[in-house]
Parts: sequence; structure tokens; C-alpha cells
Amino acid sequence: MKYFFIIFAEFMILVNTGAKDFKFHPNLPLGEYRVNIIAAQQCNVNSTLQFNFSLFKTSRTTIELRGNISFFKAFDDSLMFSCTLAVKDKIGSWQNNAYVYNAPQAYSSLKKLFGAEFPILFKSFGLNDTKNKSVSPGIYITKGYVISNYPSNTNFPKQMFYGTYKFKIKYLEKNGDQAGCFSFTVEIKRPWETE
Ligand SMILES: *[C@@H]1O[C@H](CO)[C@@H](O)[C@H](O)[C@H]1NC(C)=O
Ligand SMILES: *[C@@H]1O[C@H](CO)[C@@H](O)[C@H](O)[C@H]1NC(C)=O
Ligand SMILES: *[C@@H]1O[C@H](CO)[C@@H](O)[C@H](O)[C@H]1NC(C)=O
Ligand SMILES: *[C@@H]1O[C@H](CO)[C@@H](O)[C@H](O)[C@H]1NC(C)=O
Ligand SMILES: *[C@@H]1O[C@H](CO)[C@@H](O)[C@H](O)[C@H]1NC(C)=O
Repeated sequence: MKYFFIIFAEFMILVNTGAKDFKFHPNLPLGEYRVNIIAAQQCNVNSTLQFNFSLFKTSRTTIELRGNISFFKAFDDSLMFSCTLAVKDKIGSWQNNAYVYNAPQAYSSLKKLFGAEFPILFKSFGLNDTKNKSVSPGIYITKGYVISNYPSNTNFPKQMFYGTYKFKIKYLEKNGDQAGCFSFTVEIKRPWETE
């Protein structure tokens, strides 16, 4: 439990300082990990930022994110970023809001979190990092972005509790209105676990 807070404290320093609220299921082992993304979903189809993702398995351990994002307004630092984590407990039910992380400045937060991976992520959608920290409205399509190498090349926490999580990512306007929302269901596995 103690370690988890240390890791998430690092995580929060990296991403930004923001409101945090954390309660967690303590009985999961902790360590280095690989991610196995098992589902991607859009939570609100009719929003100003639409994330139309699908997953494509290219090998036993490689998964590509495909699809497109449609922005009806600019994606920039005027938006806020909110991530909630649900974790699957021992009896298979979801514990919602196991971790909630909010940060101002959506663009800068994304860039900090992805670190060296950020330009690769952007490039796969035909996007470029810009000095004004803004992605113009438009439709951006990816033919395939390898999403299974995490956490390498990113600033994600280096260790996590093994388990199955649902990450719900929301972008919010300053007034709290939701601009876009999507979720990933992810298995956090030991690095050598392939299935
Ligand atoms: C989608 O949003 C627009 C306005 O943003 C609204 O006019 C339309 O009725 C909405 N459609 C659905 C299916 O909710
Ligand atoms: C998202 O993809 C689905 C098919 O996967 C398609 O039917 C839908 O029109 C797409 N939506 C947008 C906004 O591109
Ligand atoms: C968005 O991606 C979906 C597949 O994920 C595809 O069906 C749809 O045509 C795409 N929309 C555009 C505008 O490219
Ligand atoms: C990103 O840069 C490339 C090459 O300079 C350019 O072709 C592309 O249109 C740019 N993308 C956007 C969204 O501005
Ligand atoms: C930000 O800069 C890019 C080019 O680097 C430009 O296409 C875009 O319109 C600019 N956005 C704003 C809001 O100034």
C-alpha cells in the first residue's frame, strides 16, 4: 500500500499536481509490468471530441490501436483531464473510483505523461507537437499505433499492482461540461506473462 502511494505520488508529480482521491484494494502484488489492452470504448458518442478506437491484434503480444479521433473544437490546454480507475476485485466485480486523478491543461498533461512516446503517438494520427499546444479541429486517422509496449518510452509508473483495470479518460471544459470521454480495459501483467 505504502509503495503504491509512492509510485502514484511520482506519477502525479510527473503529470502535474492536481486533486487526488485514492482508495485501493491492497491485496494485489506489485511490480514491473506489461499491459494487455482488452477493450477500447467511447463513453459519449455525441461529444465535441470523439474517439473512435478499435483494437487490432497483430501478434500474440502486439496490439495496435486503430480508428480515428474527430475534434469539433481544438484540443488544447483550456481543457481539463480527468482519469478514473476502476479495478476488478477478487470476486470479479469492479471497484469504481479506486483512483481518481484530475489535472488542468489537457495537452500539457498528455505530453508529460507520454514523454518520449508523445511524438510517436501524435505522428501515428498525422499530428505534430505544436508550440501553441493546440490540435486544430479535424478528423485524424491512425492506420495503427502499437499500444502494447507500455510503459516503455513513457512516463507511466514503472510499477503497478497486477490486475484488471478500467481507465476512464474524460476531457472537461472549464465549466465542467464533458468534451470527450473514452475508456480502456487493461490487464496489468507480469512482463513475462503472454496470455
Ligand atoms: C448531439 O448533440 C447535438 C448538439 O451538440 C444535438 O443537437 C443532437 O441532438 C445530439 N444527438 C444525440 C443523438 O444525442
Ligand atoms: C466510428 O467507427 C464506426 C465503425 O467502427 C463507424 O460506424 C462510425 O461512423 C465512426 N464514427 C465516426 C465519428 O467516425
Ligand atoms: C473512423 O474509424 C472507423 C473505424 O474505427 C471507420 O469506420 C470510420 O469510417 C472512420 N471515420 C472517418 C471519418 O474516417
Ligand atoms: C504534421 O507535419 C507533417 C509534416 O511536416 C504535415 O504533413 C502534416 O500535415 C502535419 N499535420 C498537421 C495536423 O498539421
Ligand atoms: C497552433 O499552431 C499550428 C501550427 O503550428 C496552427 O496550425 C494552429 O492553427 C495554431 N492554433 C492556434 C489556436 O493558434
